[in-house]
Amino acid sequence: MPGISHDDQARTWLLRTPASAYGFGLSPDGATVRHLHWGAPIEHEDLNVLAGRPDDPSVQRMAWARQPPAEYVPWGGLRFDEPTLKADFPDGTRTIEWGYDSQLITEEDGATALTLRLRDRRYPLAVELGYRVFTSTDVIERWARIRHTDPGGQPIVLHQALSANWCLPAGDHWRLRYLAGGHVGETQLTDTVLTPGKLVLESRRGITSHQASPWFALDHPGHADETHGEVWSGALAWSGSWKLVFEITQGDRLHVCGGYNDFDSPLALPPGADLVLPVFCGVYGTEGTGGISRSWHDYQLGHVLPRRSGQVPLRPVLYNSWEATGFAVDEAGQGELAELAASLGVELFVVDDGWFTGRTHAAAGLGDWAADPAKFPRGLDPLIERVHGLGMRFGLWVEPEMVNEDSELYRAHPDWVFHFPGRAPAEWRHQLVLNLGRPDVAGWVHAAVDRLVTDHDISFLKWDMNRHFSDPGWPDELGHNPERAWVDHTRNLYAIIDRLRSAHPGLDIESCSGGGGRADLGILARTDQIWASDNTDAADRLLIQDGFTHAYAPAAMMCWVTDSPNPFTGRPLPLSFRFHVAMAGALGIGGDLRRWSAAEREEARQLVAGYQAIRPLVQRGRLYRLASPRDGGFAASQYLSADGGELAVLAWWRPRPYGSYPTALRLAGLDPAARYRDMVTGEEHRARVLMQAGLPLPPRIDYGSQLFHLRRA
Ligand code: GLA
Repeated sequence: MPGISHDDQARTWLLRTPASAYGFGLSPDGATVRHLHWGAPIEHEDLNVLAGRPDDPSVQRMAWARQPPAEYVPWGGLRFDEPTLKADFPDGTRTIEWGYDSQLITEEDGATALTLRLRDRRYPLAVELGYRVFTSTDVIERWARIRHTDPGGQPIVLHQALSANWCLPAGDHWRLRYLAGGHVGETQLTDTVLTPGKLVLESRRGITSHQASPWFALDHPGHADETHGEVWSGALAWSGSWKLVFEITQGDRLHVCGGYNDFDSPLALPPGADLVLPVFCGVYGTEGTGGISRSWHDYQLGHVLPRRSGQVPLRPVLYNSWEATGFAVDEAGQGELAELAASLGVELFVVDDGWFTGRTHAAAGLGDWAADPAKFPRGLDPLIERVHGLGMRFGLWVEPEMVNEDSELYRAHPDWVFHFPGRAPAEWRHQLVLNLGRPDVAGWVHAAVDRLVTDHDISFLKWDMNRHFSDPGWPDELGHNPERAWVDHTRNLYAIIDRLRSAHPGLDIESCSGGGGRADLGILARTDQIWASDNTDAADRLLIQDGFTHAYAPAAMMCWVTDSPNPFTGRPLPLSFRFHVAMAGALGIGGDLRRWSAAEREEARQLVAGYQAIRPLVQRGRLYRLASPRDGGFAASQYLSADGGELAVLAWWRPRPYGSYPTALRLAGLDPAARYRDMVTGEEHRARVLMQAGLPLPPRIDYGSQLFHLRRA
């Protein structure tokens, strides 16, 4: 049974998920929470045996061995590896010494939580280690709450405050897989074998970043692959600067700690205050990387993504104007696009950048969030009504954390941007970052967006953030820990979005940051979908999307069909290929429909209807990556309903010598005794044959594609 048990005598705790276990215990002196197990299910008696073992016989005589793998590592004493917490006390003491305080296990609906309290033996600093396990997923949530326990004291300065430390079982040759890349090439699955020393993945950019994602998977190469083998994975729920440290120390011990990036970020903990650190999740599984991805998807659908009436709503098919019109947005042009979009079956029409005052190019307007009277002389409402009249919802692009120098907002409040007194802040895309750490700026941003969605019938925002932070100065706070802005910007952003969502329960939000620069569990808890990349070339997109689904649910992955040749890469691709690639997540259209021929529009209409028929499978089903785009020309993904009764398969052929393509595709996870009927051809297949010999594939050449839809007969 999933849950948490505590043995008071042995002073051990065992966390059970449906298919894994995680355990730790107190060291005899109560000073260390010793990590004992993360892996396959075990009994509490097994854990107590581990708790009774000496730490590491081979190195017992060395000082290092007196410091066993620990759940949460303060810097102090004989600790030489990466700490999770480092604090300076007012009297100059810079180390921490824990003592055990208390524990509390609470049952929640479908979950059990544990709070373990430790206190410094002398100074007014305490930590609560939080753990939560669920009956429905193997993902374990961990976090920490740091408390200053003397309201009458002096501030304590935290120089490093990470969320959790994950200890891996003994063993060498760890392979680390992670998501790296850049703008227009996000979430590329990357791997490396870890060797003694440290490997750091991080963002120092104020946002999650395009360059790396706070997610990892660890396994032993040769012992695990896409479909089988033990994998340990983790993901951080934080959208500001972050870091993950993978460190192998003496004795081949691997530990992974992560959380806020400490770079340039001392945090003063005021007397009596507390600091709740972001959730850092972990999951163990034995069904390879594919199984781990499914665990992450289930967790996000069950516990992270915003829900309505008890479940994550299906994402509407949207149209977005950006690639069609750029900044040349006006009522007539958008109306024309809306008519065409509606005729294809689009359900949500989104006006992208260019609609607000002065926004005729990237150098002006950001900050002035009212419709440009030159483009919308009658305001936004006539367009919104027209869109509603066409049976679609209406959405709008905003970039509320940003300002152009050429804007009313900047002219009124030049001091609201991040800057240092003696430097001109660097511009990027002609824009500067508003310091949301300032309560007045955060209040203004909230009010500006709230006004928009109150005054107009807007049910969707594409919330963009087109540059990384630089010059993170806050001159007014000199001497009062201005560096906290690195963290406070994101905390206040979260609070703004949370407030907007609770005041406007019908509002959906897409997280965008020049494409996929802000994709993580923290933003997924408060937005419905993520714009995965500005690169809309379907061939490139296969790799971006493949990486994305390793960590994040297809339901949250926004994908558009745009024009051919692709405006970004110049690559011409068939309409069906572009659609079939975009159907692998939440489908959207972003092309200039005015330039599509009647035949193309009719084909698009049919493809949209085809997607709508399989949408619950793609967005709520279980993803099996049957053939990886990383392996060559052919790629395919299967989406299976929870009861195994229905599935969709998307298959994509990329350039490869004729005759070298596979002739059949082995399906996965089906009910072996069942027969499945092809919903298009009516042909019936035996499940065992589909899983052993495979689904016969038609002969296709470069950039062919196919959607298969099967249902249990
Ligand atoms: C970013 C987004 C794009 C588009 C533009 C508008 O680049 O990723 O989708 O919204 O901004 O300026």
